[in-house]
Amino acid sequence: MTTRAAPSRRDLIKAGLVAGAGLTLGWPARALAEQGALITKAMPGSGEKIPVVGIGTNAYNLSAELRPVLRDLMKRFVELGGSVYDTATGYARGESESVLGELSSELGLRSKVFFVTKITAPGDDLAQGRTLFETSLSRLKTDRIDGLLVHNLQGVDALIPAMREWKQAGKIKYLGISTSSDTQYPALLEHMKTHQLDLIQVDYSLGNRGVADELLPLAKDKGIGVMINVPFGGRNRANANFARLATVPLPDWAADFDCKTWPQFFLKYVISHPAVTMAIPGTRRIEHLEDNFGAARGRLPDAATRKRMETFFDGLPA
Ligand SMILES: NC(=O)c1ccc[n+]([C@@H]2O[C@H](COP(=O)([O-])OP(=O)(O)OC[C@H]3O[C@@H](n4cnc5c(N)ncnc54)[C@H](OP(=O)(O)O)[C@@H]3O)[C@@H](O)[C@H]2O)c1
Repeated sequence: MTTRAAPSRRDLIKAGLVAGAGLTLGWPARALAEQGALITKAMPGSGEKIPVVGIGTNAYNLSAELRPVLRDLMKRFVELGGSVYDTATGYARGESESVLGELSSELGLRSKVFFVTKITAPGDDLAQGRTLFETSLSRLKTDRIDGLLVHNLQGVDALIPAMREWKQAGKIKYLGISTSSDTQYPALLEHMKTHQLDLIQVDYSLGNRGVADELLPLAKDKGIGVMINVPFGGRNRANANFARLATVPLPDWAADFDCKTWPQFFLKYVISHPAVTMAIPGTRRIEHLEDNFGAARGRLPDAATRKRMETFFDGLPA
């Protein structure tokens, strides 16, 4: 725990390093360097270093209003050192994948971003799964997907062997399964024992710690990378969580692990779990992106502090 505390965005504005909220792009390299190195974790199977904070895109679409916002976000995301974009064929009827493909191609950033997408094969219909995979490649404007997951366990037995072939053919780098539903965890545990998976995606947050009992320890034992979805409790619950915390001061000891905001408190809790490789908070706002990346710098809480965070969170008024 020796890393220097990162200056807040307000500190940087005061120091004249950032001009203000309207000029968020193109921060001076010095300002970024002063915030300390971005924390990465290794994918268990390959050792590839992945930034611990990525971004979720289930609220992205192709609307003319949103496109320039998402364009600026992608530039800023890469500038901050981010790489993991989580999407799915099912998000906004495919528009989430399409907008990511268009923007990464337009900005020339495909080599800088790590795309994770999700497909299904309902009723183990592999033909449907194959079509969805080809559609994902086309929408994302790429010939290789970094992470391909079976969405919500729909068609695992048909898709995993096919994904293994696509991996051998160099069309995907990591394969696995995703869910955010408690009812699917018993089946996911069985799949983790029977299939050789590179990556799983599950939900975990301060207010929802169930996967820490059995699933995260199994992932660690089996050498499976773990992406955490809904780290703030999900799109609806996040707003309620942060509204509830608006008048609650952060505890003083949050400074011991370089935490300046409640979203960072949530994220640092999640990414400091030893089995977790990365978290993918969803956002469409640059100031939230920058806040979330504050969690990927500085120190992380140790095991005793993580317990303290749980006790503190559980003791907050409902
Ligand atoms: N089964 C599955 O595989 C599955 C299921 C659910 C989700 N996912 C993935 O996980 C991702 C994350 O889930 P999610 O987006 O539903 O939930 P989340 O990450 O827990 O919360 C997102 C919400 O938090 C807000 N937010 C983000 N950063 C913030 C900040 N610094 N301060 C205040 N508010 C902030 C966002 O609003 P703004 O947009 O205004 O920032 C949004 O309303 C999804 O986008 C998706 O990619 C996968």
